[in-house]
Amino acid sequence: MVKKEFPKDFWWGAATSGPQCEGRFNKNHANNFDYLFDTKPELFHDGIGPDTASNFYNSFREDIKMMKEIGMNSLRTSIQWTRLIADFEEATLREDGVRFYNDVIDTCIENGIRPVFALNHFDLPAELEHKYGGWLSKHVIDLYVKFAEQCFVLFSDRVVDWFTFNEPVVVVEGGYMYNFHYPMVVDGKKAMQAAFNLQVASARAIANFRKSNKNSLGKIGIVLNLTPPYPRSDCEADQQASFYANLFKNRLFMDPSALGAYPSELLEILKKDKVMWEASQEEYQVVKENTIDYLGVNFYHPFRVKAPELSSDALACDWFPERYFEHYEMPGRRMNMDRGWEIFPQALYDIGENIKGNYGNLPWFVSENGMGVSREIRWTNAKGVVEDDYRIQFVTEHLYQLHKTIAAGSNCFGYHMWTPIDCWSWLNSYKNRYGFIANDVHTQIKTIKKSGYWFKKVAESDILEVPQEIVDKFMV
Ligand code: BG6
Repeated sequence: MVKKEFPKDFWWGAATSGPQCEGRFNKNHANNFDYLFDTKPELFHDGIGPDTASNFYNSFREDIKMMKEIGMNSLRTSIQWTRLIADFEEATLREDGVRFYNDVIDTCIENGIRPVFALNHFDLPAELEHKYGGWLSKHVIDLYVKFAEQCFVLFSDRVVDWFTFNEPVVVVEGGYMYNFHYPMVVDGKKAMQAAFNLQVASARAIANFRKSNKNSLGKIGIVLNLTPPYPRSDCEADQQASFYANLFKNRLFMDPSALGAYPSELLEILKKDKVMWEASQEEYQVVKENTIDYLGVNFYHPFRVKAPELSSDALACDWFPERYFEHYEMPGRRMNMDRGWEIFPQALYDIGENIKGNYGNLPWFVSENGMGVSREIRWTNAKGVVEDDYRIQFVTEHLYQLHKTIAAGSNCFGYHMWTPIDCWSWLNSYKNRYGFIANDVHTQIKTIKKSGYWFKKVAESDILEVPQEIVDKFMV
């Protein structure tokens, strides 16, 4: 057994989101996923929608106590635009929404848990989609900034840590290219417009934060799901494909968020392929002037890449970035078979090195990482505890690599698991369970898993015990 010590004040915690944990109780607006479930419930795994989720709206006090019990010192969730705001044009407030988020913040603080908030976790009010075209509309950016300002004014006396968006690239991919998020449009040009508008929305919210924030310690960032590309081989075509994959999967949001500018190669491709977004000089200026203070990195899996099989010059084809790279199914990869994602903890080390080398060693934390397992109830023991040794191994391996990059000088200040309590997850609904705490969705009874007790030990001591076989595995 090898012991690895993490820095003092390290964030040990977990992340969820408003739409995935709260339930729709007492909300008078639908977000895009509420609307999709109301109109097409058959798209959701087992036909289960966001109505109850993990009941956080009603049980947040007990839930937060349980989070304390497993050693969490920080929690990220998100403020639902559709819960806080009454009228979107003027960003007038709903009293119950304000009460609810105030109570959540105060309960976290009472329990020694740092409340960390995202302002958007895929959840656009459905009526803004229908009235204005959602993230394709510049007016929706204005409305988002008004909502953000309300959050800063209401809560920044106690909330220090803010994130403008969670995984904006997923909004672009799911909503405008690959059909897994409402509005389920398939149109590469619109996808790129949405990407730019989301970036402007993030930068303008940051600009607003700089004037509305009431907290001298306050900081603001963005949460990006970085999926480092690994080329199939050293050959030039595969290397080139990897470069392009990085442009579209990571640098599309990372460069403007952290450096205030887009990679020139990306802009050239968009112009050449006639999918360039509409943008004004003022918008580029706002992006340039409002970079992030720190970064949240969601990491689940790497992205293996090869040169595309087909010519990028195909005719009468929809435009997708995949004309420049293709996903490569690497023989011998380690998989989480339930979720269908490759397990490659070494990527966390590479992410740390990338941030250190290419982004000025920006402070960052792992804002999501985790292992989704289906039918997890199979692993429940006679005492009713889920024996999720696979999750303990998964987190140990990732923390081992994270420790390695910190030791090499990367400026990482925390690790958040997805997720504290099993929660609802978009089209996948309750298919895969990720929590340190199990949730029986029929009774809403919550039970700490073996990994939750394990995490408590790590979090309270700042020490990770790494079995020798894991150390040996990463030696080769
Ligand atoms: C992350 C999202 O990308 O993945 C979460 O931020 C999501 O909202 C999580 O729940 C797990 O996704 P899934 O599809 O495996 O449930």
